[in-house]
Amino acid sequence: MILAVPKERKARENRVALTPDVVKDLCGKGFQVSVEAGAGLNSFISDQQYVDAGATIVQGIESLYQTADVVLKVNAPLGEEIALMKPGCVLMSLMFASTSPGLVEACAQQGISAFSVDAIPRITRAQKMDVLSSQSNLAGYKTVLLAANALGKIFPMLMTAAGTVKPAKVVIMGAGVAGLQAIATAKRLGAIVEVSDIRPETKEQVESLGAKFIEVKGDDSIKTEGGYVKDVSAEFLAKQQALIAKHVADADIVITTALIPGKKAPVLITDEMVKSMRMGSVIVDMAVEQGGNCTMSELNQTVVKNGVTIIGESNLPSLLPLNASQLYAKNIGTFLLHLADKDGFKWEMEEEITKGSLILKGGTVVHPSLQTLVANN
Ligand code: NAI
Repeated sequence: MILAVPKERKARENRVALTPDVVKDLCGKGFQVSVEAGAGLNSFISDQQYVDAGATIVQGIESLYQTADVVLKVNAPLGEEIALMKPGCVLMSLMFASTSPGLVEACAQQGISAFSVDAIPRITRAQKMDVLSSQSNLAGYKTVLLAANALGKIFPMLMTAAGTVKPAKVVIMGAGVAGLQAIATAKRLGAIVEVSDIRPETKEQVESLGAKFIEVKGDDSIKTEGGYVKDVSAEFLAKQQALIAKHVADADIVITTALIPGKKAPVLITDEMVKSMRMGSVIVDMAVEQGGNCTMSELNQTVVKNGVTIIGESNLPSLLPLNASQLYAKNIGTFLLHLADKDGFKWEMEEEITKGSLILKGGTVVHPSLQTLVANN
């Protein structure tokens, strides 16, 4: 089987789907790997490193896709890329298929198969393949550094002859994978950290990292499934906003990470709450691409509103491309080896990981949750 790794075409993307160590491993298992010239450069990986690992460098995406049996990507391919894939080719990438009917339709028309790596079930044996966790973890770290850099203050308490500097106060909304890493990073830098989440089990995790949990009493409207929040009512969000308002007003930094998969992100920080913050404070809205947790954040912009700096960077893992590509490659390489060997895919349709992540097979939409989506499009 020929595996193809193109250069990512999405703006602001520095990652690449395979790194030389994973290429070497796959070549050792009998796969052939073709890499588009320059694909790794934004992750500081040269073509020569890929060649040394056993890959072939191919000039241009047309030639690359002409021979590809499997296309390994970070982001979903653009329409023009899909049009270059051979019918029967297998795509493996982030797809967020439930909110991308046009993408699913284009794959169907081209007659390709597609596994969506964001849909790999979060079960113990799939942890090594969990790209959402590996990338969110890095994003949580980077978000604190971006905030610290934009803040005109240091994080730790400092006692000097010239006086005592109070520690910075960081409020983190959402204690999932990214939020927990943000807590750990802000604590390491010496800040006082307060955290809010609506899944009660997060309280213990937050406290074990030395942060204070802001308790918002839950109600029946909060629905969770597999560790994710599935739904929450507008009434609950209003109650939550009222309770966290005073913590936000007193914060130097607010980091929001709250997501509800497949839905618009919940609004946690309103215009009024931004106005209540001190000049010089910083907000980082990690949910900006899903509509934002803060009403004043703007996609891929850093804006200053009422003296508050609001950062809306949508692709935080891409700002740490060395680690992000390294972990992504390990995830997707493990996933591929779970599904296939050098002679082809196993297509075990009832196996849990295959069933959760396979969106299309040979141009037919097979994921149960998506058949109606495509039909209605
Ligand atoms: P996510 O990115 O979907 O959400 C981030 C956080 O936002 C979650 O903690 C969620 O509870 C929180 N949130 C949603 N609405 C909120 C609101 N109104 N206010 C405050 N917070 C709100 O979730 P992520 O980080 O991808 O994973 C969440 C959980 O999934 C993990 O903490 C873990 O329990 C579970 N998980 C399990 C894995 C496994 O078993 N292999 C792997 C990864 C995650």
